Amino acid sequence: MSSDALASLSHEGRRFAPPTELAEQANLGEEAYAQASADRESFWAKQAERLVWNQRWHRVLNWDNPPFAQWFVGGKLNASYNCVDRHVEAGQGEKVALHWVGEPEGDTRDITYAQLHADVCRAANALLDLGVTRGDRVVIYMPMIPEAVVAMLACARIGALHTVVFGGFSSEALAARIVDCRADFVITADGGYRRGTASALKPAVDGARRKAAEEGHRVKKVLVVRRTGQEVAWDDSVDTWWHEAVNHVSSVHEPEAFDSEHPLYVMYTSGTTGNPKGILHTTGGYLTAAAYTHWAIFDLKVDTDVYWCTADIGWVTGHTYLVYGPLANGATQVLFEGTPDSPEPGRWWKIIEDYKVSIFYTAPTAIRSFMKQGEAIPAKYDLSTLRVLGSVGEPINPEAYIWYRRIIGGDRAPVVDTWWQTETGSVMISPLPGVTAGKPGSAMIPIPGIEADVVSEAGESVPNGSGGYLVLTEPWPSMLRTIWGDNERFIETYWSRFRGGGVDPDRWWYFAGDGAKKDDDGHLWVLGRVDDVMNVSGHRLSTTEIESALVSHPKVAEAAVVGAKDEDTGQAIYAYVILRNEAGDGGPDILEELTDHVRGEIGPIAKPRQIMIVPELPKTRSGKIMRRLLRDVAEGSAVGDTTTLADSSIMDLISAAQTASV
Ligand code: WTA
Repeated sequence: MSSDALASLSHEGRRFAPPTELAEQANLGEEAYAQASADRESFWAKQAERLVWNQRWHRVLNWDNPPFAQWFVGGKLNASYNCVDRHVEAGQGEKVALHWVGEPEGDTRDITYAQLHADVCRAANALLDLGVTRGDRVVIYMPMIPEAVVAMLACARIGALHTVVFGGFSSEALAARIVDCRADFVITADGGYRRGTASALKPAVDGARRKAAEEGHRVKKVLVVRRTGQEVAWDDSVDTWWHEAVNHVSSVHEPEAFDSEHPLYVMYTSGTTGNPKGILHTTGGYLTAAAYTHWAIFDLKVDTDVYWCTADIGWVTGHTYLVYGPLANGATQVLFEGTPDSPEPGRWWKIIEDYKVSIFYTAPTAIRSFMKQGEAIPAKYDLSTLRVLGSVGEPINPEAYIWYRRIIGGDRAPVVDTWWQTETGSVMISPLPGVTAGKPGSAMIPIPGIEADVVSEAGESVPNGSGGYLVLTEPWPSMLRTIWGDNERFIETYWSRFRGGGVDPDRWWYFAGDGAKKDDDGHLWVLGRVDDVMNVSGHRLSTTEIESALVSHPKVAEAAVVGAKDEDTGQAIYAYVILRNEAGDGGPDILEELTDHVRGEIGPIAKPRQIMIVPELPKTRSGKIMRRLLRDVAEGSAVGDTTTLADSSIMDLISAAQTASV
């Protein structure tokens, strides 16, 4: 990471103490840190008591065979029961679980816990009727409608694993995930609404099913929610309407208790290679950490708060902080189908006003885009109910933090900058709103129960004031258990980098892939990925994934992709492409053709900001592409050291091409 970045951060001296009232009534106080580090396992066991267990565990953690962990060994529970039934049994049936807000204005539904319970039971019975059994993988490819939440909980209820694929992913990307986890079942919708128009989803599922079949995997059944009413192609032998399936079955379903380590879901995420990894999460530990962190980090007061997390269920944030955390805690929350600025730029703020949202969780990229539109838009709405603001997905720039706090939080609501990953399952590093005096741009310190450090190349803890690699030094309940079907890759990717490190061969440290700095007070500043993973608007994409997509185009010989700094999206994708000889100059529409191709292979989020056709790529003598140099060019900064290049004149050609194209 650059020393400039480190130096500029050290100048940030602003601190924001928690509001007195919040501090006095905080769910989790200062003492929790000491309690947790004195006896971590007892601390986590206490958190597990937030859930209803059909059978209590006999051992908190089994770490005898690292890095394969088992939490709450011997315990049995049902995740769906914990998210729904138990609240109804506790007399909360009439409480609103979801204030659902559809994209078309006025299209809203309030769903109580009792209704959610009936819906989940029906869906569970419908899935059983279709032939879904425990351990099966069910791919969910849906818009942000209540049925998506119901589908996830119905899977959990019968012990099937859900694999939610973001609705913005292409048919190709969907097919790759279906095949990788060998999903026999898909749940989707005819379409969803985006910026006022119905946008189809079912055709992507039909296409993915064909592609999977070509690779020898047959999807048995597709359940289709009717959302937009648009035309869909129909195959009677496979497709079933959701409303027909759930109307034919009973709303009574007895949940079965599953082992604490029973798999709950697989969530695909980008790594350093072309193939996305299926991150496996299991039941007891994951749900414990989801409930605990959601309660502690947002200081949830379950009887009075209205919570809203803007993440899509297709990402891990939507899993932990939209489905499992808030519902396990019995919270009332908003679920919004649409985009922040449609049909008007104040749509989000209007929702906060309408539903009196008190806890709001979103991403820096959204905050930056609102900053750009100006203060006048949020100023039109009453945001005075907000009392805690969360940020996730990428480092929050100090200026965005200040704006978020001042304009949205009325200079009153603390901002919790939460660092975590698909793999960690729940927040690892974050301020506590009633305890921490927050610093804009710093995620501060690990929450009680979590141990992290910043280490050098050699695996030694760095002193305050220095940067290095972010590691988690102790196992935690919501840790990924493996990469679906690939234990070797799991060990290699996360646990090998600092294994032993010459310090202690028995040490198993989880390497997150992020660089971080400890400031003079020992507070952590996450600086972003140190590997080939990019973060574009808070979405994880790997450079190799996009390179593979480009190279699969018939005119492309070679491609190199880098993420360059971008004011709006954090990073933006720049692609350098060498065409095949027989393609000549590629023709007049080559850039558009390549852009469309990437969109088709992965989805619109993977679209490069700029594609450059170049004669050569900068390579070392051993043939490794030096992406660092390409990043310099993309960012318009001085090109770094080129002495290790096999042919140093290449960078001049590329720089000239880039200058000419701007
Ligand atoms: C980045 C999203 C800085 C980081 C929950 C991490 C952050 C990756 C923060 C995981 C934060 C997430 N500050 N960086 N508060 N939160 N990141 O798996 O690079 O989609 O490794 O999980 O996002 O992205 P993922």
